[in-house]
Amino acid sequence: MNDGFVLIYLFTLQPDFLYKMQVIKEIKELRSILDEKRGKGLRIGFVPTMGALHAGHLSLVTEAGNQSDVVVVSIFVNPTQFNDKADLERYPRTLEADVLLLKQTPCELVFVPEVDEIYPEPDTRNFNFGSLEQVMEGQFRPGHFNGVAQVVSRLFDIVKPDKAFFGMKDFQQVAIIKAMVKMLGIPVEIVPCPIVRENDGLAMSSRNMLLDPQQRANAPHIAATLFEAVTKAGQLSVEELKKWVVDRVNENPYLNTEYFEIVDDETLQPVSSWEQRGAKVGCIAVHCGKIRLIDNVVFNR
Ligand code: PAF
Repeated sequence: MNDGFVLIYLFTLQPDFLYKMQVIKEIKELRSILDEKRGKGLRIGFVPTMGALHAGHLSLVTEAGNQSDVVVVSIFVNPTQFNDKADLERYPRTLEADVLLLKQTPCELVFVPEVDEIYPEPDTRNFNFGSLEQVMEGQFRPGHFNGVAQVVSRLFDIVKPDKAFFGMKDFQQVAIIKAMVKMLGIPVEIVPCPIVRENDGLAMSSRNMLLDPQQRANAPHIAATLFEAVTKAGQLSVEELKKWVVDRVNENPYLNTEYFEIVDDETLQPVSSWEQRGAKVGCIAVHCGKIRLIDNVVFNR
C-alpha cells in the first residue's frame, strides 16, 4: 500500500484512535486537566447535555470542535430542572452508547458526575429572569429554568469554558442562559446552534426515543404544521395564525398542544401584530401521550 492509500484507509475507519477521549467523574480531576490545558493557551469549548445523545447533540460537539481546541461534553440528568418527578424518572439514560458516540467526535473530555458531586448540598439559589421566564416553558414548567440556571452556572464554574454550545430547539433556554451569564458576569460566549431535524421534519430530541411507533409516526405533524404556518403568515393575523396552528396540531389524535406562542426573538414576549419590529419566533409544546415535545420556527417578517 502506498502512503496516500494508507491515509485514505485510516480516515475511513471510525477514528477512535484519532480522538483520545477521557471519561471523568470528579470535579477535582476535570479541573486539574483543564487548568493544564488552559495554561498552554488552549481554548475550551463546552457542550452541556443530559445524555441520550443524538445527531443534534453531535452537531453541537462538531461545532465546538470547529471553534475550540479542547471539547468538553457533560452528561448529567439534572434533577433540579424537572418539575415533574415522573418525567425525571422516565428521562432516557444511555451512558454506554453516549460514550461510544462521543468517541467518534472531537470530544476530548466527557464529564459524568453523580448528583452529589454537582450538589454536595441542596442548591437554594433563586434566579429572577423577570419576563423572560414568565412565558411558555417558564409558565408551564414552574421552577424549570431556575434548575437549568443552577446546573449550568455550576458547570460553567467547573469547566470555565471560553465558549458553550446550545441547540436552538430549546429557544427559551438559550435566552435564559444568555441572561444568566450576563447577570453573573461569567466570561463565556454562548453559541446558539441550529435545530437538527429527522428526515421527516421532527426536531431531534432525547425524548423522541420514548415515543412508541405510532406516536413516532405522528409526531412529525408538529413540524409540518409549523412549516405550513410560516407560509400562512401573510394571509392570517397573529391571533388567527395561533388558533390555526393549535387546531391543526390537535386534529391529529396523538397530539395535544399545551401552548403555541408567537414571540419577539429577544424579549420573548408575545407579539400581537406582524407589524411589530423585530424577528418573531413561533414556539410550541405538544403532548404526545405522556411525552412532551417542543419545537419552534422563525417567521421572517
Ligand atoms: O438542554 C439540556 O439538555 C439541559 O437543559 C442542560 C442545558 C444540559 C442543563 O441540564
